[in-house]
Amino acid sequence: GNYTGSLRPQVHFSPPQQFMNDPNGMFVDANGTWHLYYQYNPTGTVAGNQHWGHATSRDLYHWENQKIAIFPDSSTSYIYSGSAVVDVNNTSGFFPDQDNGVVAMYTLAYYTTEPGLQVQEIAYSKDGGYTFEKYSGNPVIDINSTQFRDPKILWHAETQHWVVVVAYAADFVIGIYTSPNLRDWTHASNFSHHGLLGRQYECPNLVQMPMQGGDPMYMLWISINPGAPLGGSITQYFPGTFNGTHFEAVDQVARIADFGKGSVSLTEYSGSFAWLTSDADNYAGQLFYGIPGDQKQVSMAWASNWQYCQLVPTGPQEGWRSSMSLPRYNYLTNLTGSGYDLVSAPFNIASQFTQELAFNTSLGNSTILLDYSSLPSGAVYFEANLTGLTASTLAGSVNFTFTSSISGESVRGGTFIGGDTWIDRSRTYGFDNPFFTDKFSVSPVYGGKGTWTISGVVDRSILEVFVNGGEQSATTTFFPTRPLDQMSIGAVGIAQNVTVSVAVWGLGDAW
Ligand code: FRU
Repeated sequence: GNYTGSLRPQVHFSPPQQFMNDPNGMFVDANGTWHLYYQYNPTGTVAGNQHWGHATSRDLYHWENQKIAIFPDSSTSYIYSGSAVVDVNNTSGFFPDQDNGVVAMYTLAYYTTEPGLQVQEIAYSKDGGYTFEKYSGNPVIDINSTQFRDPKILWHAETQHWVVVVAYAADFVIGIYTSPNLRDWTHASNFSHHGLLGRQYECPNLVQMPMQGGDPMYMLWISINPGAPLGGSITQYFPGTFNGTHFEAVDQVARIADFGKGSVSLTEYSGSFAWLTSDADNYAGQLFYGIPGDQKQVSMAWASNWQYCQLVPTGPQEGWRSSMSLPRYNYLTNLTGSGYDLVSAPFNIASQFTQELAFNTSLGNSTILLDYSSLPSGAVYFEANLTGLTASTLAGSVNFTFTSSISGESVRGGTFIGGDTWIDRSRTYGFDNPFFTDKFSVSPVYGGKGTWTISGVVDRSILEVFVNGGEQSATTTFFPTRPLDQMSIGAVGIAQNVTVSVAVWGLGDAW
């Protein structure tokens, strides 16, 4: 791949060329190698002809592109999204003499002129996930549906069986199936019509999540396809209990992952959602298989959405479309007694810092301006931390702007201390589309901890922002006609006795 284009992210994964969407099959192997597969059209910069592309990494930032892992057998079937597991105990029987066999489960989607049948198939890999053979007994789940996809497998230790969650997309139902051997699957239960419905449910994940100050909990997360009541694509999640066959949400509240992460109670879902906003470019997120349930779970998401992914200018200009979000740590906490809040923060981002661009432990009410045009990656990490806050000193704001010295285009954002956080991509001019919303905002809660933090990464054509260490987060793409290369970050109206410290780092080029 050629990763030099001025819109090409340098610390976010993007495909060597052509079109990518969802992350698939992600797992970490026993040697600590991270495997990322992804929805890939190797022959065009729009969706279609889906294969599973593949890349591996030791740190989730430096990726080695691998050969395509799973191919369709014919021009009228596609390999859609799915997941992978390591079958350490050879429950499947595919791996008589090894403990590192990998089984992938994906949706085979038939397509002629109309969408056809969607069935679940498996393929197995004896070389640790590089090459796969399809199981001769496929499909392993077929319910004669054209809207049945995105299987995500987990191992349920208590009952010693495999579980898969799969979306009956148009019915707003997540089906739960169990299996002793990954080949024979039995329907166990359905989780249906919870929270936001949108137009479709896609890409479910059922995982154990660590809960701060408590025992790990199960969490079901569901991607809502465009047409969600909020507009755009979002992800909702339900903490709950899982006994190996049935998932019960702890309450009837859908929580929204990423910006706009407020709660929506079921009674409200036919009403107005005007008070909720969401970022547009974080969809189809998946959690890596292979991390114990009491440890922070690691995820990546597709940093685009179906409303404009096939139109963005990176296609004609640079021959690729879509990147992934940053890898993230995820865990549950209880922020304000409201229940279970997902915290999602960049995975080991400090390991990618190269040069310190700014560092000030007592900024006060002033602004730092800096020129990063000589930074090879063009990718910057920034954070502002406020300490010494009390309920009566929640005042002022921290604001940041990334600007092009050539064209004057900019991406901006900011946070009111104890109040709203916003981002604005309206002043970049390389892309125009009715769904390409200009601004996003959210209202994080002040947890009474005396601190308030905003941090983020800007990476050529993608911005991710985190408030209070990931209690709120947002992913947004933007497409300037000229590279952004100047930055400002500053504080205004901050109360006395509140300390503002700022750090800005250049990030290494992952390619
Ligand atoms: C989600 C999705 C999945 C499907 C895949 C096809 O973005 O629509 O439901 O499996 O993309 O590429």
